[in-house]
Amino acid sequence: MSEKAIQRSLLASLSKREYRYTAELPTAPDPSIGIVLVTGASGYIGGRLVPELLSRGYRVRIMVRGQSPEFREMWPSVEVVDADARDRDNLRAALKGVHTAYYLIHSLLLGQREFEAADLRAAVNFRKAAEEAGLTRIIYLGGLGDARAKLSSHLRSRIRVADELARGKVPVTILRAAVIIGSGSASYEIIKHLVKRLVVVPVPKWANNRCQPIAVRDVIKYLVGVLETPETAGMSFDIGGDDVLTYAGMMKELAGILHKKRLFFPWPITSIGFYSYHAGMLTPIPAAITKSLMEGLKNEVVCRDESIRRYIPFEPLSYREAVIGALTREEQDNVRTSWFSAYPPAHELAMKLRELEGKRLYTARFSILSSKETWQLFASICKIGGKEGWFTHNWMWRLRGWVDKVFMGVGHGRGRRSQTTLKVNDVIDWWRIEDLQPDMRLLLRAEMKLPGKAWLEFDIESAEGKNRLSIVAHYYTESIAGRIYWYVFVPFHHVIFNELIRQIEKRA
Ligand SMILES: NC(=O)c1ccc[n+]([C@@H]2O[C@H](COP(=O)([O-])OP(=O)(O)OC[C@H]3O[C@@H](n4cnc5c(N)ncnc54)[C@H](OP(=O)(O)O)[C@@H]3O)[C@@H](O)[C@H]2O)c1
Repeated sequence: MSEKAIQRSLLASLSKREYRYTAELPTAPDPSIGIVLVTGASGYIGGRLVPELLSRGYRVRIMVRGQSPEFREMWPSVEVVDADARDRDNLRAALKGVHTAYYLIHSLLLGQREFEAADLRAAVNFRKAAEEAGLTRIIYLGGLGDARAKLSSHLRSRIRVADELARGKVPVTILRAAVIIGSGSASYEIIKHLVKRLVVVPVPKWANNRCQPIAVRDVIKYLVGVLETPETAGMSFDIGGDDVLTYAGMMKELAGILHKKRLFFPWPITSIGFYSYHAGMLTPIPAAITKSLMEGLKNEVVCRDESIRRYIPFEPLSYREAVIGALTREEQDNVRTSWFSAYPPAHELAMKLRELEGKRLYTARFSILSSKETWQLFASICKIGGKEGWFTHNWMWRLRGWVDKVFMGVGHGRGRRSQTTLKVNDVIDWWRIEDLQPDMRLLLRAEMKLPGKAWLEFDIESAEGKNRLSIVAHYYTESIAGRIYWYVFVPFHHVIFNELIRQIEKRA
């Protein structure tokens, strides 16, 4: 099928913003089963699964770490339980009365040294708590890979989690996927950014290993499909898309779709550390994730059995269709979840500004009076970052982001999930939204490498018969290096924030 034809047929379905992946699933919903628990609901897959289950009438409970208003706003009928899988008591409450639980917990963001142990501990706790609560089934989405081969720590960990869950009395359905292609998925973003940014693409030997990518919509269909097919309990399935490609082949195909002429040439250096560091610099994905994913490329990840197609019969999309679907979503500014949807590592960065009450904070406030309406000013604030940039001195923001990347931080390039809408926990470049009160306040928390903790607050309040628009930089540090950092940046703050506030007002 030509690119245009693929796009036309995908657009027919995607044109509805509320389009459901499972609309044409051949299985029948059975909401009478009772509560379906989705763990990892703040993550890439979980965030896309929940609305599908709701649209099919299921009673859904989500398990998240750290209550946040965003979940109730997005899914008002969902029951939200605050629980960390590392804590058994937490899990008991979360699993009470549950029929089936989706296990989508993954701690890749913790980095290689820690995620394996963290993921295993969470799985052990979950298995025991599920037994105690008398669950009927667990559905787990893990990774493809031959357990007998020398696997990367990431793939090995995915298999260990599957084995651990399956050791219990509760039947587990295991779905094993390789690279998932969809708007905002980490692997797709890495491939896309490399193809866009490199004119000459070095191809190491392992990039010729084979892989069977799958579209995110097909993953969601299988996840829902197995729930609606009780005989899949206790079974393990490989799931994949319609074609098998090499990683180099995936990049070439994407370059073709984007109409980019790229020169691919064999490259003798095979060190994953070398590639992941540079990929971390060239793409918005942090090095911790890039390294784990790239290590997995050393293994061939192709479906060994296709029995899933007997139970849930539908034609999965090809790689090309999946990529065009993802690009179309981006064009429509309708990306549902992204690799950065999950919370930052160990929540240590998630200290809230209000928790620092009474501590010594460094602040700098910049204000102007405006006769424009509050909603106009707020709408203008909400456009910052991503493709729009920071309205002024963009090169300074980029330079700071680049320095952060050199030190393996998140950098400037994460962009935004959507250019037109914002919600709490969304990312804006190196910031994450901590608080959003329409027409009043937007509070951003910095997630870059800093010798302290930083917030940027945008406020609107009435004053002197007009509206006062303010930007407040908050900073907390206990170290001398942290204090020096603040004072070094004071002159830059004056230049950037004074101009930024003027630009926000002008564009309102
Ligand atoms: N995305 C892919 O390309 C891909 C490919 C193949 C297989 N898979 C598999 O699909 C599953 C889901 O992946 P994903 O991409 O959706 O992951 P993700 O976006 O990184 O989300 C992981 C989720 O796990 C939660 N979590 C981590 N530690 C937890 C803990 N101790 N207690 C409770 N929740 C915890 C996170 O919650 P917080 O927000 O609180 O951190 C987050 O919601 C994984 O098993 C993964 O191996 C994914």
